[in-house]
Amino acid sequence: MGVRFAGWGVGLGHRVVTNNDLSQTLDTSDEWISERTGIRARRIGGSASELGTTAGRAALVDAGLVGADIDHLVLSTTTGDRVIPGTAPLIAGELGIPGGAMDINAACSGFMYGLAVARGLIATGANRVLLVGAENLSRWTDWNDRATAVLFGDGAGAVVLEASDDDAVKSLNLGADGSLADLIYAEHGGFIHMDGREVFRRAVRIVVESAERALTEAGVTISDISLVLAHQANQRILFAVADRLGVDHGKVEVCLDSYGNTSSASIPLAVDQARRAGRLQSGDLVLMTGFGAGMTWASAVVRWS
Ligand code: ACO
Repeated sequence: MGVRFAGWGVGLGHRVVTNNDLSQTLDTSDEWISERTGIRARRIGGSASELGTTAGRAALVDAGLVGADIDHLVLSTTTGDRVIPGTAPLIAGELGIPGGAMDINAACSGFMYGLAVARGLIATGANRVLLVGAENLSRWTDWNDRATAVLFGDGAGAVVLEASDDDAVKSLNLGADGSLADLIYAEHGGFIHMDGREVFRRAVRIVVESAERALTEAGVTISDISLVLAHQANQRILFAVADRLGVDHGKVEVCLDSYGNTSSASIPLAVDQARRAGRLQSGDLVLMTGFGAGMTWASAVVRWS
């Protein structure tokens, strides 16, 4: 049994914080941030449960469904409301989803890992699964550290996955390398630390390899892909990946300029922007790809319906 995407939704952090706002309190500038990252603003505020509930509710409305129609909820987050319990049961309770609810943590690859988990639940008998990616990264950000404070934002995205004989997911690979765990980390109650330059270098190579594997496994080439929906960490990473894969920059969805790096939420936020702009049409083949702390990575070729 395969899956189809039945509805999408987002939840945005409450407040718009621009690069100029940050330069009031940090030794940085709009010019440095936008040139080095492509980020111009980010949304700040809202817990993972609050943002995730908003996104989940919007996805249900988009699918023409209510919580009772959903079997299980899978939440991807690195910044859940509390360490114990998981945040997924809170969201499921708010939305009236009767079945199982669990958090998974694969950092910025989490939405793609969640897709694999949700697809597995459907393959083993569930009819519909709500997949949510929700992050409250601002709580884990050291607002005095210009190297990380300019990068992150809060937000959420969600999709209803439904059982379908015609599987929208044509290939999906996941990977992880724990020897790189120290490149991005946060201790309990601490802030996010990152070796940005090394993450950048690794990310480009990892994403290209994973994306090429997904293309091969789907039996397609990059020229068949109409849009790349990738984790939004840095515009320079997105375009370096595009150059190595041989795809026009115009075919890479970029929403980090408005939202910054929202980890698990970034791919569904990119989907939402592309849908609104009419860049996703029925029958299109798209490449979805993520990478993040762990390090983890994941790529899929998806047929839009
Ligand atoms: N404003 C002004 N100057 C700054 C800032 C800032 N906000 N941040 C750093 N600098 C300075 C540095 O101190 C350094 O100064 P120096 O040369 O005097 O030492 C200089 O700018 C260059 O710093 P680099 O770190 O080399 O800058 P780089 O071009 O690599 O850009 C960045 C940094 C944006 C972090 C980039 O490396 C990057 O995007 N890395 C990838 C991050 C990423 O993808 N993370 C994803 C995972 S996140 C997750 O999983 C939760």
